Amino acid sequence: MAAEQTKIYLSPPHMSGKEESYIQEAFVTNWIAPLGPHVDAFERELAGHVGVNGAAALSSGTAAIHLALRLLDVQQGDTVFCSSLTFVASANPIVYMGAEPVFIDSEPETWNLSPQALERALQDADREGRLPKAVIVVHLYGQSAKMDEILDLCSRYGVPVIEDAAESLGSTYKGRASGTMGRFGIYSFNGNKIITTSGGGMLVSDDTEALRQARFFATQARDQAPHYEHSRTGYNYRLSNVLAGIGRAQLEVLEERVEARRAIFDRYRRELGGLPGIRFMPELEGTRSNRWLTALTVDAAEAGVSPQTLLESLAEQNIEARPVWKPLHMQPLFEAVTYYPHSGGSEGSISERLFRTGLCLPSGSQMTEAEQMRVIGCIRQCLLNRKSVMA
Ligand SMILES: Cc1ncc(COP(=O)(O)O)c(C=O)c1O
Repeated sequence: MAAEQTKIYLSPPHMSGKEESYIQEAFVTNWIAPLGPHVDAFERELAGHVGVNGAAALSSGTAAIHLALRLLDVQQGDTVFCSSLTFVASANPIVYMGAEPVFIDSEPETWNLSPQALERALQDADREGRLPKAVIVVHLYGQSAKMDEILDLCSRYGVPVIEDAAESLGSTYKGRASGTMGRFGIYSFNGNKIITTSGGGMLVSDDTEALRQARFFATQARDQAPHYEHSRTGYNYRLSNVLAGIGRAQLEVLEERVEARRAIFDRYRRELGGLPGIRFMPELEGTRSNRWLTALTVDAAEAGVSPQTLLESLAEQNIEARPVWKPLHMQPLFEAVTYYPHSGGSEGSISERLFRTGLCLPSGSQMTEAEQMRVIGCIRQCLLNRKSVMA
């Protein structure tokens, strides 16, 4: 019977309804290519929205990270530091460049890159005369990392910062938009993100010359000539004009989406926050998370139920939930890679603890109160059952 209930997804795509007129315009004007008026306008509008000098619309957030590394002249054998608690797409482009990632742990107040671990990593690298070519800082589930401390450390060592804001478009850190504080910022418009073009990404920067180069590399690095002339290796990374049209309509509703996701987070916290062993992802003072996904931790001893059991109970009720990202230093892909934990003391590795205990709950902007109460009811029931079994 439970399986007959409609499925509640983690973060499904959600069209606002205005996309069709933009798509129609692309069709009528026959701009069905990875360039055109929607691409230009989407870049302008997004750059204006977050407050940077420019933006380059690309086929994915991964492509944006790849181009940022290319523009920073990352070479074979270089190192690039990267948050460990993230999706693999944050680090894959480091490997595309033939460079070596070094993973940095999270700290407990933001779940993001630990300035403490970063400082130790930079000191070691400096001593060895092998400073990284870049630091990729991820703003997980919409929560900003401690940017003041991170930027301060990186500028002390002269290392540029790339903000992976794939999950944090619409978030702010001390009044500044997430993704606009480093040398480069990247956003993703993948189907599960707060706004989507079905697939797409954006590279942003105040350095408009670098963005001009990004567009050059993103279009197969074609030199100025009447024929096809190439002196550098490029990529096919531009965003289609049709998808950019979808992006323009989506950008119009970004702030509504942030409100909706924050309201969803608040309801979860109101309804579940008092339960033993349940703790919600914090929000650092002076920051505003878009709460892309509601994330929490479950202390199995206190709650009487493991995160895994909770996931299984939700799945039985046709509700999609997920563990938090598995840290990249724990992935078989990166077995031999260097990792800096938050501290050598009793706190140990924060990202490993978050992986063991963390869950993401359905957070779609369109989720109804009734749907959310179904998720909440299932979690309450699961904890209640376990408690009575254990009594
Ligand atoms: C943290 C993070 N970085 C990078 C990406 C890559 O974005 P895309 O899927 O647009 O390539 C994603 C999402 O997919 C992400 O969550």
